Amino acid sequence: MTAGRPGRVAGKTALITGAAGGLGESMAWMLAREGAKVAVTDIDGPRAAALAAAINAEVPGAAFAHAHDVADEDQWAAVIAAAVDQMGGLSVLVNNAGIGGDLVFVEGDTAANWDRQYQINLRSVMFGCKHAMAHLRASAPASIINISSIAALAAGPGMGAYNATKAGVWMYTKTIALEAAKADWNVRCNSVHPVFIKTAILDPFVAMSGGDETKAHERLARGIPLKRIGEPDDVAYCVLYLASDESKFVTGSEFKIDGGMTAQ
Ligand SMILES: NC(=O)c1ccc[n+]([C@@H]2O[C@H](COP(=O)([O-])OP(=O)(O)OC[C@H]3O[C@@H](n4cnc5c(N)ncnc54)[C@H](O)[C@@H]3O)[C@@H](O)[C@H]2O)c1
Repeated sequence: MTAGRPGRVAGKTALITGAAGGLGESMAWMLAREGAKVAVTDIDGPRAAALAAAINAEVPGAAFAHAHDVADEDQWAAVIAAAVDQMGGLSVLVNNAGIGGDLVFVEGDTAANWDRQYQINLRSVMFGCKHAMAHLRASAPASIINISSIAALAAGPGMGAYNATKAGVWMYTKTIALEAAKADWNVRCNSVHPVFIKTAILDPFVAMSGGDETKAHERLARGIPLKRIGEPDDVAYCVLYLASDESKFVTGSEFKIDGGMTAQ
């Protein structure tokens, strides 16, 4: 039995997309250890299942896994229905799945690059909010947490589609926050904006440093006042706060996890 487990998100029921690795994996562990049930979904179903098994070995009955391509609206409807059934509700949605990709400069950019990033990074967030909302309302107080990026607020050369899709997530978050507030649904919606964090999404930068991960991380840290890149739990702690009722008066806001980068 998981009912009654203590913690900052005790009794919460959370669905996290793109949770088989990286930031989503860290969030799943943290929410489960702090008392929530978590549905870990990912396009890589076997890796999501392995993570759920690992979490359940430590926190029995806390985790459920689903194969889930966030670009596919039909899959959203099916995964949410199954997760609600397994967890007994849905009070937290973390739209975390996202892709980076290689640097592409304006004259070499393509419709295929934009379509892919739009579908996975931005349109997916709308699908998630749309299909989760009735369940979030029924499980209120509830929280939607959209993982945007510092790239929504500060651009980088060669990152046009990523910058634009992440900026879209930032503003869409505010729309949902205002719609939910206007309707008195007790569903909050906020965005999180990490700078470089040590996950597989940085692999293209490591490749650009000849495969030397330490060198790549040092190069990425150069513009960051705290002189290092982040760890996945730097983001997960923010998600934990936003998932909990500690943030009950916080909606439509953006949370920068950037080592001071945009303070400059
Ligand atoms: N790590 C960083 O430096 C950083 C910085 C800013 C923002 N972010 C954002 O954080 C989120 C998580 O990134 P991460 O660093 O953990 O990356 P990651 O590559 O380690 O993990 C992303 C996960 O998403 C999954 N995924 C990819 N396409 C999917 C799809 N269509 N449907 C469902 N799942 C899919 C992958 O299988 C993977 O498990 C992303 O939205 C990313 O843009 C990351």
